[in-house]
Amino acid sequence: MQSRLGTLEEGKEPVTASRTNQSRPLPLRLLKFFLLFLIVGIGASIVSIFMVRRFGINTVALVQSSYFRPCLEQSGSIESWIRPPSNLLHTMNDTELFWKASFVPGIKSYPFKRTPKIAFMFLTKGPLPFAPLWEKFFKGHEGLYSIYVHSLPSYTSNFPPSSVFYRRQIPSQVAEWGKMSMCDAERRLLANALLDISNEWFILLSESCIPLQNFSIVYRYISRSWYSFMGAVDEPGPYGRGRYDEHMAPEVNLSNWRKGSQWFEINRELAVRIVEDSTYYPKFRDFCTPHKCYVDEHYFQTMLTINTPHLLANRTLTYVDWSRGGAHPATFGKDDIKEEFFKKILEEQTCLYNNQPSSLCFLFARKFAPNALGPLLAIASKVLRI
Ligand SMILES: *[C@@H]1O[C@H](CO)[C@@H](O)[C@H](O)[C@H]1NC(C)=O
Ligand SMILES: *[C@@H]1O[C@H](CO)[C@@H](O)[C@H](O)[C@H]1NC(C)=O
Ligand SMILES: *[C@@H]1O[C@H](CO)[C@@H](O)[C@H](O)[C@H]1NC(C)=O
Ligand SMILES: *[C@@H]1O[C@H](CO)[C@@H](O)[C@H](O)[C@H]1NC(C)=O
Repeated sequence: MQSRLGTLEEGKEPVTASRTNQSRPLPLRLLKFFLLFLIVGIGASIVSIFMVRRFGINTVALVQSSYFRPCLEQSGSIESWIRPPSNLLHTMNDTELFWKASFVPGIKSYPFKRTPKIAFMFLTKGPLPFAPLWEKFFKGHEGLYSIYVHSLPSYTSNFPPSSVFYRRQIPSQVAEWGKMSMCDAERRLLANALLDISNEWFILLSESCIPLQNFSIVYRYISRSWYSFMGAVDEPGPYGRGRYDEHMAPEVNLSNWRKGSQWFEINRELAVRIVEDSTYYPKFRDFCTPHKCYVDEHYFQTMLTINTPHLLANRTLTYVDWSRGGAHPATFGKDDIKEEFFKKILEEQTCLYNNQPSSLCFLFARKFAPNALGPLLAIASKVLRI
């Protein structure tokens, strides 16, 4: 075969170069070659059919599998589907990332032992001043959580390999408060976290957030909840219903319009709904813009109220103090960190948990200034049991 092919290749040049001189012997040689090719081909097919029938061996598949084995070694097992991505710094753009993240298995039961994890998603500008407190919080609970950090693209962190934040940065873009780029960043965090099939719950946090309970309590509270914690209220007045724009109808009507804190905790089903949305996204992008409307307080809240109202607790798990008034909530510094302060947040609350009254309403709190770290670490074990 090889040598025949060789002669044909050699014979090709004279054909074009001197067509008139050698017009007779060539077609005969070509004909002979094709005849041989045909015979060899038919022979191979017959042998192949015979082997498949007789021994169930697919020779083509045999050749392929031995040929490709080195590069596809891992895709033969379920492992490659359930193992989280080894490197968070992928090269997918948002379109590609969201598409990949929107995959949902059709069969609901997993054919392997799946330990559901909580994805802690930090939406930050740069440094994480409370990293030492979070390290304490996560210690000893490996396998039950994943961490993702979205910061300004210009920022590079320098966590040591021993840190839970080491190499947990995802490809990021500039996110501006109140604008769609903020929701884009949140969707980007969700999409990256969805790539790990073991992540079942998704919590959005900022660099000024702290945990109020230890990990065991947080995991139990979230995993046993019937609902996802997305603050969503129908608020009358200029800062609630007043921000609705009639151009959003009929996808979004005034009666669907909701307002709530940006800081959510949602389950995997809702995370996929947010990442795959293309119905409500253009409406909010075009008709909920500053300074009339702040999209991070309305988009997911309204969209999920329309799609899956029965899955929402309509409250957030992240405590914030608006009592001082104004456009921004109170920021707590080192002088605020007293036992009485946490007593108020931890004990003097009432809410519904799985339709029952409860005093455990908040698992996280904001906003804390970096100088609160020292006092927080000092009281963490006694007051927060972290
Ligand atoms: C991502 O890349 C694809 C393919 O090149 C392109 O069609 C798409 O518009 C890109 N998306 C973004 C957000 O840049
Ligand atoms: C977590 O906190 C709860 C209540 O605050 C406490 O009972 C429990 O012992 C703590 N767990 C650990 C591991 O510290
Ligand atoms: C909004 O109202 C219109 C007209 O009543 C209706 O057709 C549409 O389904 C409503 N949209 C939602 C999301 O309820
Ligand atoms: C949350 O609000 C929706 C309507 O917006 C309602 O259908 C749902 O029952 C509420 N959730 C809870 C837990 O009450």
